[in-house]
Amino acid sequence: MAEVNIYEGALDKGLEGVVACTTKISFIVGDSLTFRGYTIDDLAENSTFEEVTYLLWNDKLPTASELQAFSSELHKEMTLSPEMITVLKGIPTNVHPMAWLRTAVSLLAHWDKDANDNSPEANLRKSVRLTGKMTTLLCAFDAIRKGKDPVAPKAGQSIAWNMMYMLGGGKEPNAHHVKVMDTCLILHADHELNCSAFATRVTSSSLSDLHSAIVSAIGALKGPLHGGANEQVILMLQQIGTMDRAQQFVKDALAAKEKVMGIGHRVYKNGDPRARILRAMSEKLTKDAGIHHMYEMSTLIDDTMYKEKGLMPNVDFYSATVYFSMGIPTDLFTPIFAASRISGWCAHAFEQYANNRIYRPRGKWMGKEGLKWTPAADRK
Ligand code: COA
Repeated sequence: MAEVNIYEGALDKGLEGVVACTTKISFIVGDSLTFRGYTIDDLAENSTFEEVTYLLWNDKLPTASELQAFSSELHKEMTLSPEMITVLKGIPTNVHPMAWLRTAVSLLAHWDKDANDNSPEANLRKSVRLTGKMTTLLCAFDAIRKGKDPVAPKAGQSIAWNMMYMLGGGKEPNAHHVKVMDTCLILHADHELNCSAFATRVTSSSLSDLHSAIVSAIGALKGPLHGGANEQVILMLQQIGTMDRAQQFVKDALAAKEKVMGIGHRVYKNGDPRARILRAMSEKLTKDAGIHHMYEMSTLIDDTMYKEKGLMPNVDFYSATVYFSMGIPTDLFTPIFAASRISGWCAHAFEQYANNRIYRPRGKWMGKEGLKWTPAADRK
């Protein structure tokens, strides 16, 4: 049989166009995104983060009693033990919150009695714990770095409610902001084979444990070309400062071949449905917060990028001003993304473990060949 040359047509960068696995979790077609067959617009309008998490993990929407039982499990698992809090207080906070979160999630494995059990039942239990605790961890980080004691989550309240409650230092959160946060958590919950979901799957494919897979995912999400872009959007708006400088900023960035953060996408070429929803939320929230100029600057950048380059905003562009309007510290935007995407990462790990083969691509050799070792003293 003739040998197939697998290197012919090898991809140099980014695996564009490669279908790396089959999946039933979420899917992008044109400019629409579906989770388990439901459009993101439908879920954002009608669902809750808890319900969407159930959907992603179980391939069906829960009945009323299933949702109640699942939500109460998740909410119970939001609590951090006093022992955990003592150890977390010992992690220096002089790093980016995503770096701290990566360490904190890794530490959680030390208290998890299922840490080394890769059975579907144990992975489900660990996923409930990780999803419950991710929000509490990022809020604890914010408290600890301010020299305060972390606020404990309130029993019987949703993850979105508790996120706003704990970030607000234990004050009753604004009901509209809670609703906005819940919608944001839904919008970020999964996104097909994005970089961090792929990282989850690659680590799971060696049959490593769930905590290791999630730590890999947090590391991937942290980068500015992935989840780290939302924080960069605010830094960019602050750097531009005023409307009259926005257009020139974009033109200069393009001329210098620099990326404008929150714009562009590997898959969506006609717009990201999540960005459309977030744009409307940003318009209202920036008005309410008295920072409408930030929304106006954003839309001008959005229009200019489209005119100059045909590129459109992704999920990170308008979520930035949404979070900023609600008073959330800029460097917590990406950890909030993680507190949502944990649900998708777990779904990808379940799917990978259930139909596994280790990921092991090849590289096309472009280096030197046929060299011969010589003693160090003879080398020039
Ligand atoms: N600003 C300026 N130019 C951009 C751009 C951006 N945000 N996104 C893409 N481009 C340009 C590239 O420079 C390239 O132009 P060229 O063909 O003239 O060289 C072209 O569009 C293709 O971009 P490329 O970087 O190859 O796309 P990709 O599919 O590899 O990357 C992203 C996709 C999302 C990583 C990329 O658009 C990006 O870096 N965006 C900013 C970061 C961001 O918002 N990330 C969050 C993703 S959800």
